[in-house]
Amino acid sequence: MLKNKHILLIVGGGIAAYKALDLTRRLNERGARVRGLLTKAGAQFITPLSLSALTGEKVHEDLFNLLDESEMGHIALSRAADLIVAAPATADLMAKMAAGLAGDLASTVLLATDTPVLVAPAMNVRMWTHTATRRNVAQLVQDGIAFVGPDEGDMACGEYGPGRMAEPLDIVAAIERCFERQESGLTHLHPKTKALKNQSAGLLAGRRVLVTAGPTHEPIDPVRYLANRSSGKQGFAIAESLAALGADVCLITGPVTLKDPPGIKTVRVETAADMAKACEAALPVDAAICAAAVADWRIAAPQSEKIKKTSNSAPKLALTENIDILKSLSTRKKNRPSLVIGFAAETEKMETHARQKLKTKSCDWIIANDVSPASGVMGGDNNEIMLITHDRQERWPHMTKAETGAALASRVADYFNNARKITPLPLKSKRGLSHGSN
Ligand code: CTP
Repeated sequence: MLKNKHILLIVGGGIAAYKALDLTRRLNERGARVRGLLTKAGAQFITPLSLSALTGEKVHEDLFNLLDESEMGHIALSRAADLIVAAPATADLMAKMAAGLAGDLASTVLLATDTPVLVAPAMNVRMWTHTATRRNVAQLVQDGIAFVGPDEGDMACGEYGPGRMAEPLDIVAAIERCFERQESGLTHLHPKTKALKNQSAGLLAGRRVLVTAGPTHEPIDPVRYLANRSSGKQGFAIAESLAALGADVCLITGPVTLKDPPGIKTVRVETAADMAKACEAALPVDAAICAAAVADWRIAAPQSEKIKKTSNSAPKLALTENIDILKSLSTRKKNRPSLVIGFAAETEKMETHARQKLKTKSCDWIIANDVSPASGVMGGDNNEIMLITHDRQERWPHMTKAETGAALASRVADYFNNARKITPLPLKSKRGLSHGSN
């Protein structure tokens, strides 16, 4: 996918600048053509020589360099790339971008371009969480700038939190998603999701979210399996709505017929054990939403050859319990997502069972839905849910799964933005949202 793609890599001034060199190597390995642009502060951390040695190109540094301007002006530089990547992107560089300033080569190139831009922020945790940076990030997402990271962890300054630049391979994956998005456009989005994107773009920028979706298949023998009727539609809709708000989404899905949503990292798995492994690999995340209908049991001893019919008796299938992914995410000591949301698929006593699951699974919110055959939820396009938290409950109106996904993504954004009021989406139902509590 990256073969012969031209990438302009802007390296800002931060300790993470050294990772830009590794990023360059990873992009080279994939056949991309990288051109480097080093800011004044970036040049305090890495040298133009090392960047030039890895890119095999001259490194651009000055806005007012006569020779550079005669060889390739800054306007041409900004247009020659298929994608501009700023890694590390400092708070200062993002502020300049958000304000439309053009006082140095990096900001001028970013202002002069109509090429898609991906930024990988890196800064101290307090700078990242500062209102000014949040405002700038929201503005940039609204302007169509893509984000990858930052990650949470120990920082060079001795503090802990979000602000570490994403790892080079994660940036490569985000670059691939940018190209995927460019190639497919966003035409597939449901109008509600588009509306949500326009209304509240950027509210989840910099947040990583894991979503599980679909059924799991548990093998009996090489040709048969245990399964359920989940279509994955609700989980996919949630993932798309979260991505529309700027979240970095990892969608882990069991076998479904739906296509990978463009721009979303989608991991396809078969069994509950595979799904659990993929979830573990996706950590750390800020939020996990378990919408998958994971099989509770698997065959204790799946056969390696097809089980043959014998005249005297049907085979006895001994079952063993699968790992509960939701519970294991909620009860982790290390890297527990700050918001864990489960689903309670019930055919009777929906509310009571859902409340029990909220407790036994130690999650923060549970979405109860009626999956009895009469409801048409399993495999259908609509849903009618209850959102239950430890101190309140809401019965949502009958909506499409896309609308439910958009409304849930709004709630997640609300949670991460300190319960800041988000304009609710206009809902079709006459009943509207009911905000009960108990
Ligand atoms: N879940 C999970 N791993 C499992 C089983 C369920 O992560 N092995 C998650 C589902 O993704 C969902 C929640 O747990 O978010 C509840 O799933 P549900 O099937 O409703 O409940 P179960 O725990 O399977 O209980 P029961 O089948 O008895 O209703």
